[in-house]
Amino acid sequence: MNRNELARIAHAMVAKGRGILAADESTGTIKKRFDKIKVESSEENRRAYRELLFTAPGAADHISGVIMYDETLRQSTKSGERFADLLSRLGVVPGIKVDAGTKPMPNFPGEVITEGLDGLAGRLAEYHKLGARFAKWRAVIDIGAGIPTRTCIETNAELLARYAALCQEAEIVPIVEPEVLMDGGHSQERCEEVTDAVLEEVFARLYAQRVYLEGIVLKPNMVISGQKAPNRASPAQVAEATVRCLKRHVPSAVPGIAFLSGGQGEAEATHHLDLMNRIGGLPWGLTFSYGRALQATALTAWSGVTAQVPSAQREYLKRARLNGLATQGKYDPALEKQAA
Ligand code: 13P
Repeated sequence: MNRNELARIAHAMVAKGRGILAADESTGTIKKRFDKIKVESSEENRRAYRELLFTAPGAADHISGVIMYDETLRQSTKSGERFADLLSRLGVVPGIKVDAGTKPMPNFPGEVITEGLDGLAGRLAEYHKLGARFAKWRAVIDIGAGIPTRTCIETNAELLARYAALCQEAEIVPIVEPEVLMDGGHSQERCEEVTDAVLEEVFARLYAQRVYLEGIVLKPNMVISGQKAPNRASPAQVAEATVRCLKRHVPSAVPGIAFLSGGQGEAEATHHLDLMNRIGGLPWGLTFSYGRALQATALTAWSGVTAQVPSAQREYLKRARLNGLATQGKYDPALEKQAA
């Protein structure tokens, strides 16, 4: 394992001013997104949409890395340049989602376990040859009556740690993503309690598996009220609780933390990130690894129409730029009113 190389890549992924585009929607998930804009989820449409994102002029100023799905990593631009080559040429680190999605956890109703360790070492070696330099594995923890259970937290944390160790062996930086869902009506306090327990367990397992902490990126949820909670915490409360929770659990050896958006609105996700970065004095970089919060408006602006590619790219660039400002604590919600 080349530790220097792992640390170099991880630092590049979380460098100030830039963040990660999560464009790794599985075939099932992208179909749901395309259904909403009435676009057929054909391989060519998926390719064309990813090309729109990856070739958006100026995006690389704000985007440090892109997470792709297996199919996407093997695709190319219309003119024949492999996506991984295009991104590398632009100074954007190519990444790959390597988990195989979640499955119901036997004996634990309402809880899920992430699959994908079988054959992972072989797949990582191939992904490295295809140009991927970081990977993502998403564990999902739901909050509800009687859940999450200890067993669910422990099992998911163990899988994340084993995945991370395998990645580093293949000289691929693991994004370690334990996502506490924001669905449901739980309070912010409950989210903090669960996120505390999850992060504590994740780092315990990472230590146990001897994962090199300087060569990972943590991708957590923010400490936020459930979507359906009657009284949702304010942006300032989200920023404060999230930083408090991370400070308790994330060693300063970790180069950076790249949040998921998890169903937050685009402006909401940007505002939260900005407020956290205004707190200052933190040992790690705080950036974004957003899927929906970078793509939602751009996807609708495109709606499968080639003539609308430039306006969709401008919408995407606007989000990338505003989130880039948020990584530096320089965002202002008034900027949302500017044209894309
Ligand atoms: P969202 O930002 O849409 O939550 O997606 C990020 C991601 O990669 C979830 O795994």
